[in-house]
Amino acid sequence: MSDSIGKLLQSAVSAITDSTDLKELENLRVAYLGKKGQVTALMQQMKGLIAEERPKFGQQVNDIKVEIAATLERQKTLLAEAGLAARIEAERIDVSLPGVGVDVGALHPVTRTIERITALFGQLGFEVAEGPEIESDFYNFEALNIPAHHPARAMHDTFYFGDGTLLRTHTSSVQIRHMQRVGAPCRVISPGRVYRCDSDQTHTPMFHQVEGLYIDEAVSFSDLMGHLETFLKLFFDQDDVRIRFRPSYFPFTEPSAEVDISIGGGDWLEVLGSGMVHPNVLRAVNVDPETHRGYAFGLGVERLAMLRYGVDDLRVFFDNDVRFLRQFG
Ligand code: PHE
Repeated sequence: MSDSIGKLLQSAVSAITDSTDLKELENLRVAYLGKKGQVTALMQQMKGLIAEERPKFGQQVNDIKVEIAATLERQKTLLAEAGLAARIEAERIDVSLPGVGVDVGALHPVTRTIERITALFGQLGFEVAEGPEIESDFYNFEALNIPAHHPARAMHDTFYFGDGTLLRTHTSSVQIRHMQRVGAPCRVISPGRVYRCDSDQTHTPMFHQVEGLYIDEAVSFSDLMGHLETFLKLFFDQDDVRIRFRPSYFPFTEPSAEVDISIGGGDWLEVLGSGMVHPNVLRAVNVDPETHRGYAFGLGVERLAMLRYGVDDLRVFFDNDVRFLRQFG
């Protein structure tokens, strides 16, 4: 083989085997074997040769043409295989990887507590009644036997709007609205938000109460005690609940009692106010105190939630710290 033919073959083979993509390979094919390619150019040189040298030269050029074509073909297969392998690798799906999770929400502990209270009183025959959070003086105080300048108003650190309305300081206002609507007998609870200008470890300016009202012909104080005891034992799901009725004063009940509870020998915590509905309250809603009487109570939802979940600062219910809230999921 002549030197120049040998060199051409060598350079073609190394360029082809070094090529890394199909486009480059196609360019090489054109550069060597194309109409104006180097091998084709060699063929044309044949014309200038003497007759006896032509067959041998022709044979040699033809040989390298075949060899270059074969090398191109092989490289094409290699590149195609490598391309496919790369694509398979890139598109590989690891079916053993865990899925992408979503954060699962949960009801707020206060909501859960209200739902639990509502369900339990439902079993005791109480329906749910609701009322507005922005109240008039009449429903929050006046009709509850707390006239203007009554000293008991000082017990309520009220947020006033200045136009005669206020943020209700307790859900007792719903007693009045409900009795106005339905009269007696009635047996309702009313859960909801209440507001007082007060904040410390066991008070927040907004908190939740559940009011209870049971009016009929012969409802007694012992009904009140018995029903609350039944409820509290069901609520805490245990018998080791101690309940203490402390004589107290509310203008809208007579007699009145505050109720403290202690779970499993723990500290006493005041959780509700209660008493027999005052005759003046019944009169304010046209219920005859000679024929009907009943009890009312108002319990603090967060207080019950604190005891049930072992939380010692009421304010954390409203910090919305997800680390705290997650524990109730
Ligand atoms: N309204 C009282 C309070 O918020 C609680 C209460 C309700 C007391 C009903 C007696 C009867 O403190």
